[in-house]
Amino acid sequence: MSSIKLNINGKEIKLPVIKGTENEHGINITQLRKETGYITLDPGYANTGACVSNITFIDGEKGILRYRGYPIEQLAGKVSFTDTAFLLLNGEFPNISEKNYFSKKLRQHANIHEDMKRFFDGFPLNAHPMATLSSMVTALSAFHPESESEDEEIIELNIIKILAKVKTIAAYSYRKFNGLPFIYPDQELNYVENFLHMMFSDSQEEFHADPVLVDALNLLLILHADHEQNCSTSTVRLAGSSKSNVFGAISSGISALWGPLHGGANQAVIEMLKKIRNDNSDYKKYVQMAKDKKSSFRLMGFGHRVYKNYDPRAKIIKSAADKVLQKLKINDPLLDIAKELEQIALEDEYFVQRGLYPNVDFYSGIIYRAMGIPTNMFTVMFALGRLPGWLAHWKEMLNSPDFKINRPRQIYNGHKKRNLK
Ligand code: CMC
Repeated sequence: MSSIKLNINGKEIKLPVIKGTENEHGINITQLRKETGYITLDPGYANTGACVSNITFIDGEKGILRYRGYPIEQLAGKVSFTDTAFLLLNGEFPNISEKNYFSKKLRQHANIHEDMKRFFDGFPLNAHPMATLSSMVTALSAFHPESESEDEEIIELNIIKILAKVKTIAAYSYRKFNGLPFIYPDQELNYVENFLHMMFSDSQEEFHADPVLVDALNLLLILHADHEQNCSTSTVRLAGSSKSNVFGAISSGISALWGPLHGGANQAVIEMLKKIRNDNSDYKKYVQMAKDKKSSFRLMGFGHRVYKNYDPRAKIIKSAADKVLQKLKINDPLLDIAKELEQIALEDEYFVQRGLYPNVDFYSGIIYRAMGIPTNMFTVMFALGRLPGWLAHWKEMLNSPDFKINRPRQIYNGHKKRNLK
């Protein structure tokens, strides 16, 4: 193992260098404070690796994303979301018997406790579905008290329960908001069909999900399934590192995802595009505002901490948006506005210099809209997709030989000691 020498105040220490399988390098500073008394300071963690992980690889400069080694382009639209979830959780795609077992369990655990249905009555009708989702996922732990167990079988079962039940909760929050009766999950349907069934079935009639919607949703969920140490995944790891139960850890991730700088950007993008449309499609004005340092406005769906190149997910979603809208015979003026805005921004020096490209949230809302999913549900859809990633990271963290409660330090800059007079 190579190392880097660091000289602090005349004292030289050797810090080991960690090398990843894709040749990424990191300096292991675990002994730094003990040996020198110094800590590192990295607000926003832009230079800080919090863990070693085998799940997802991103090269932001080249626009590469791989789950367990598989390029996202080879997965999106070519495999199922549940197979992708299994891959992220277990490292390999399932064989036939694993696939059957996983699918059977996901179907078996899709119902939530009957008493939980009454919780929906306690939320105001205009509650944001992310608030409902996060609360209901924490509440699941009350109905599954074995969630504290460290038994491997129970851990695996809890992972399945979360994957299976969260989509039911998501669909029920939509039904409640729209004054519609809850539709029970159907054991005959696969994961994506079941979600669409619970969202859009008419209780009086048999429901057949449109294959165009099934394929589109499958694609979007896969594209959202993991993205290494993003804000919500890091939150899940941080909360889970206290050995809090898994439902609580996932609920923390949901809350972190909600913000407009993260998953909430998909809702913010559509709201921004509507605003531009109502403002005579004056794109230039909005690009100008995004560049103006005195304005707090940012081009939503643009920019990324890691990608300094086109987000590979955005590329896939952009082309899928065209196809889905065409197949559904929908002409959405917001798609044209989004494309124009992208064109103007990509030719602008400000965006070019900073490597700001459309991210995963820029075009996804256009597809959700076409599917009939309301804008305030977009981030819930992101959460559904991200569940396997959160769970895979939570499991990896608990099994890591480096496992420790996550507890950053700080540089205190407040009052020095003072006494009450
Ligand atoms: N519009 C205008 N300027 C921007 C934007 C934007 N969307 N994004 C970054 N910049 C500028 C920023 O002002 C800064 O300029 P300067 O160097 O002159 O100070 C420079 O680009 C670097 O930005 P940063 O804020 O230091 O970058 P960051 O890595 O801390 O933030 C980000 C990343 C995603 C929060 C940010 O790009 C942003 O706010 N984007 C809009 C919200 C968004 O679309 N979020 C979804 C992210 S992708 C999916 C997900 O994670 O959920």
